[in-house]
Amino acid sequence: MVLCHINSLQVCHRSLRFAVIAITQPGGFSYYTWLMESKQLVTMEGMVMLSKETIRIIKSTVPVLEIHGVNITKRFYQLLFLNHPELLHIFNHANQKQERQQTALANAVYAAAMHIDHLPAILPAVKQIAHKHRSIGIQAEHYPIVGKYLLVAIQDVLGEAATEEIIAAWAEAYKVIADVFIGMEAGMYEQSARQAGGWEGYRDFVVKRKVKESDVISSFYLVPRDGGPLAGFEPGQYVSVKLEIPGEEYTQIRQYSLSDAPGKPYYRISVKREEGHPDRPAGKVSVYLHRQVKEGDILRLSAPGGAFTLNREDPRPVVLISGGVGITPMMSMLNTLADTDPQRPVIFIHTAVNGNMHAMREEVKSLLPKLPHLSVYFCYTRPTDSDKTARVHHHEGYLNLPWMKTVIPTTDAQFYFCGPVSLMKTVYRALKTWGIPAADMHYEFFGPAVSLDDVAEPAGAGG
Ligand SMILES: Cc1cc2nc3c(=O)[nH]c(=O)nc-3n(C[C@H](O)[C@H](O)[C@H](O)COP(=O)(O)OP(=O)(O)OC[C@H]3O[C@@H](n4cnc5c(N)ncnc54)[C@H](O)[C@@H]3O)c2cc1C
Ligand code: HEM
Repeated sequence: MVLCHINSLQVCHRSLRFAVIAITQPGGFSYYTWLMESKQLVTMEGMVMLSKETIRIIKSTVPVLEIHGVNITKRFYQLLFLNHPELLHIFNHANQKQERQQTALANAVYAAAMHIDHLPAILPAVKQIAHKHRSIGIQAEHYPIVGKYLLVAIQDVLGEAATEEIIAAWAEAYKVIADVFIGMEAGMYEQSARQAGGWEGYRDFVVKRKVKESDVISSFYLVPRDGGPLAGFEPGQYVSVKLEIPGEEYTQIRQYSLSDAPGKPYYRISVKREEGHPDRPAGKVSVYLHRQVKEGDILRLSAPGGAFTLNREDPRPVVLISGGVGITPMMSMLNTLADTDPQRPVIFIHTAVNGNMHAMREEVKSLLPKLPHLSVYFCYTRPTDSDKTARVHHHEGYLNLPWMKTVIPTTDAQFYFCGPVSLMKTVYRALKTWGIPAADMHYEFFGPAVSLDDVAEPAGAGG
């Protein structure tokens, strides 16, 4: 008999389809991926261990990372794209230009350094990133490339302060962290390919229907070109769409949340057209989808994924809060509840600029008879005169806690929110002030993650 001492066992991710379990033992941790359907253990990584000295050195770099983190990741991406221009086909260039990706990577590296003596603490964040990587198609062989230029970037930015021992410690830590990503992504690749209707990489879909939902949002109903079955998904998950746009030098990959419930003979995505403004160019993919893609055209999609999913086992009320096109994952959740759990109390709050920008209003209202405990509230930040006459909205102006308290009857609920970052910051701070535990708050960013703890701007609704 083998006896081993276990300090803690943590379920880092659990969906109806697979679970990731981390077991902390003295000196490190190991983790496992459990496939629910086939009751199989598909990944069992070796024990993850770092020496005490490495942990000490990495921890000593935390204050430096706090100051120089974004400079390091900016330098890293310069080096990466200079030496591997082929990777320009998989990264989102708008996120690079706005430095959101550099900031997200810097935050991830900082969090890894902070928790280097207890890496299971960052596994939920790793899981969210791993979903994005799997959806895009990141492979194990990409990791040494990223590791190499991350170390060179640390050296370039820190200069002499990056001693040999610091670089050696980071090389060792990177290998450990990369192995955690690679192991978790291997489980996700396996699961998304092996499931009924699943596939590897990208699959061709035909645009069966294109439907205008508002002045700026259109839905695309997509069916597999091969006529084969469709993989299931959890409400809240997204797909990646990969496009070659005529005239564009690089392949464009973007994520779109599935906006209808699973179990339909199609996937539906609903896309907001990102118009150009004097200070920023028009969105490449959304404008192309709106203007050029028509019924009968082909779109290439990766299998659904994502960590932002409706907890279907919790019987407590569900509060769904969205702004603009952030309504898409909420529609999947709402339609799923109508199909599978109609007695569950649901509070649906959606904020839009005005009635012209408000997508899926009739679809939400059509679910009222199916969900007897559904309450719906629409908020318009700048209602038109005809909105005011028709009185379709319940609140005018930005979301705020006093108003939210008047429509949300309980704090003992699961809260899901998605929308422009300003709205997400407002909702997050309001819920935190109200005492909602972090475990009951679930949110999705429509871009690389940012900190929600910073002070919020007025909560814009988006389109
Ligand atoms: C998990 C997830 C789910 C998502 N779900 C949805 C969804 O359901 N529906 C939806 O519509 N979107 C969704 N998105 C967002 C979507 O993936 C795209 O980001 C969005 O459609 C914009 O892509 P684009 O190619 O049109 O714009 P891009 O060309 O990527 O540009 C994006 C923005 O950056 C600005 N920009 C570009 N270059 C610069 C520059 N040099 N300086 C300043 N600004 C610049 C553009 O003006 C634009 O506003 C989701 C994203 C994620 C991560
Ligand atoms: C340990 C190593 C890595 C870390 C810590 C890391 C971290 C991150 C983070 C924090 C994000 C943003 C996710 C989000 O907020 O949604 C991200 C996205 C991404 N990563 Fe990684 N990553 C690593 C390795 C890699 C590798 C090896 C590649 C392949 C070259 C890669 C390619 C990407 C791409 C293409 C995106 C999406 C970018 C975008 O949409 O703008 N990453 N990664």
